[in-house]
Amino acid sequence: MDFTVRRPQEVIGRYGRVLDYMARAELEVERNVRELDVLMPEPPELDQYFYRQVWGPQELQHGLILDQLQAELGLPKSAPNVSTVPLKLRVLGGIAHLAAIQDVVRMLYYLTGMTTERSAVLAYQHLYEGLLSMGEDAIAVTAVAPIRRQEPGHYAYYQMSARELWARLTPWQQWLTRRLRSISFAPVGANSPQELRQVGEMMLAFDIRRRGEIDEFARSVARSEAG
Ligand SMILES: [Fe+2]
Ligand SMILES: [Fe+2]
Repeated sequence: MDFTVRRPQEVIGRYGRVLDYMARAELEVERNVRELDVLMPEPPELDQYFYRQVWGPQELQHGLILDQLQAELGLPKSAPNVSTVPLKLRVLGGIAHLAAIQDVVRMLYYLTGMTTERSAVLAYQHLYEGLLSMGEDAIAVTAVAPIRRQEPGHYAYYQMSARELWARLTPWQQWLTRRLRSISFAPVGANSPQELRQVGEMMLAFDIRRRGEIDEFARSVARSEAG
């Protein structure tokens, strides 16, 4: 492990805010796991295994690595919200015990997972390339590369699950999924205007507009919507 930063001020200037957002989003998986327990009273064994044994621990590790990087840069640790489950989710959880609704909720879970993991894949790719281009090889390789390697697997799990479940939903369940999806979509870690601004800042820091990858973001969301 080598967290040597050659020019801390330049890294902070370019990625300081981004790191804070990414670390927070990663560490908030602790709350996300709690939300999943509310949302899916009887989750399939495979899902439960995935989010408790694979996804949860891996994302937590990502958060800890990013926090360590922030400490190395002299930045404060992130302040994740790990306890407050939003009302929206609790309402959905309240009706999720109905079998027909449970499948819709699971579908929403997979689609949200696809969208956020796809964003994570792109974000870490940018961060990795950006740090390399700044000559910050040590942290690119030590901190970012291991995270970047794990995100595509998360995306693949949700994509596979979404495809499989979508094919088994009845037309009205598919309709309900689309309706709920269109009114409830928000980027991960963006539950307030302040947090949403951080997502915008991340896109700017990665120069996503210039690289035409705002389209990729939009496509990944649209792909999820379409199932
Ligand atoms: Fe992650
Ligand atoms: Fe992930």
